[in-house]
Amino acid sequence: MHFLFLKLSTILLSILISVFFHPIQAALKLPNNETIPAVIVFGDSIVDPGNNNNLQTLVKCNFPPYGRDFMAGQPTGRFCNGKVPSDLIVSELGIKELLPAYLDPNLQIQDLITGVSFASGGSGYDPLTPRIVSVLSLSDQLRLFKEYLGKMKTAVGEEKTMTILSKSIFIVCAGSDDIANTYYSTPFRRMKYNVPAYTNLMVSSASSFLQEIYGLGARKVGIFSAPPIGCVPSQRTMGGGKQRKCVKGRNQAAKLFNSKLSSELDSLNNKLPHARLVYIDIYNPLLYLIQKPRASGFEVVNKGCCGTGNLEVAVLCNELNPYTCTNVSKYIFWDSYHPTQKAYEILLPPIIQKYTNKFFGGDSPR
Ligand SMILES: *[C@@H]1O[C@H](CO)[C@@H](O)[C@H](O)[C@H]1NC(C)=O
Ligand SMILES: *[C@@H]1O[C@H](CO)[C@@H](O)[C@H](O)[C@H]1NC(C)=O
Repeated sequence: MHFLFLKLSTILLSILISVFFHPIQAALKLPNNETIPAVIVFGDSIVDPGNNNNLQTLVKCNFPPYGRDFMAGQPTGRFCNGKVPSDLIVSELGIKELLPAYLDPNLQIQDLITGVSFASGGSGYDPLTPRIVSVLSLSDQLRLFKEYLGKMKTAVGEEKTMTILSKSIFIVCAGSDDIANTYYSTPFRRMKYNVPAYTNLMVSSASSFLQEIYGLGARKVGIFSAPPIGCVPSQRTMGGGKQRKCVKGRNQAAKLFNSKLSSELDSLNNKLPHARLVYIDIYNPLLYLIQKPRASGFEVVNKGCCGTGNLEVAVLCNELNPYTCTNVSKYIFWDSYHPTQKAYEILLPPIIQKYTNKFFGGDSPR
């Protein structure tokens, strides 16, 4: 009788949970007793929650209209009207609501234990990319990660730190600034490299970085593919003609990089014991959204909500720019480079569903 009651209440509880917490619950269905204690992020503006705020760079956005739809409407340094993918990942995984910037001066030890982002807007795999705009390179981010490890070891001990690292999910998101900015918008690399050679340089730098974080204890790493960069508004402005079409060459460069990245991850998975390097395709889901915007309730795909008149080449928007849209829900892009929170909210949950289990069990992460 008592047992039956227990069973019934368990069933009721799980129905309640699945009704009210469906997205989190579904993403959290990890095999066995697996847990993900933390998420650690490296990369560029797509996953930078404000690391650039105190750098001497033009690539920052801790001013309105950025953050217009973020919590209390405050600009935090996120390159968006609201939350960015690193936030959506930690909340979908049930870890915390937001992933803070490592350089946020108010971080507590609990923030470190559950993960931070070292990403820096404007950064990339090519070491020249962050240098052009004076932001944190991947080596700078690695140096900060080592500092972070020191703090963790002091706080919870060496053994616990290494256990946390081995169970945590690492995310690396970079490459679009290399292609859009360094390769196509400056002459520095194009004088010496064609697209195949440049994408080799990017992949080889990505590979060294991944081996470095593996050496420091990272095991489960999700690596974002490059997006269809030729379709972001700033690239349409520069290369899409009067009709603001997607720029084919830039999309092809992204695809070439992606296929090389994906094979490099295969070979690293074979080489590094217990490594789970997972290639995360964002190219196709974002392209689909751009090609079929109405299916998701969007109306505008070739301009950002702020910062893009037809003549506007600037990537970021600012207080002086008069063209900030009134209804951001119609837009896939917030500024001429970065998607809106709504676009991220449509893109990310299926991606998290699809890839989370690849970090656990079985033999192959593919
Ligand atoms: C899960 O954890 C519980 C309690 O710690 C333990 O009894 C059980 O054996 C674990 N199951 C697996 C599959 O590891
Ligand atoms: C904003 O746009 C969305 C999507 O097109 C629409 O559903 C909504 O009604 C609009 N809101 C206002 C206030 O116009």
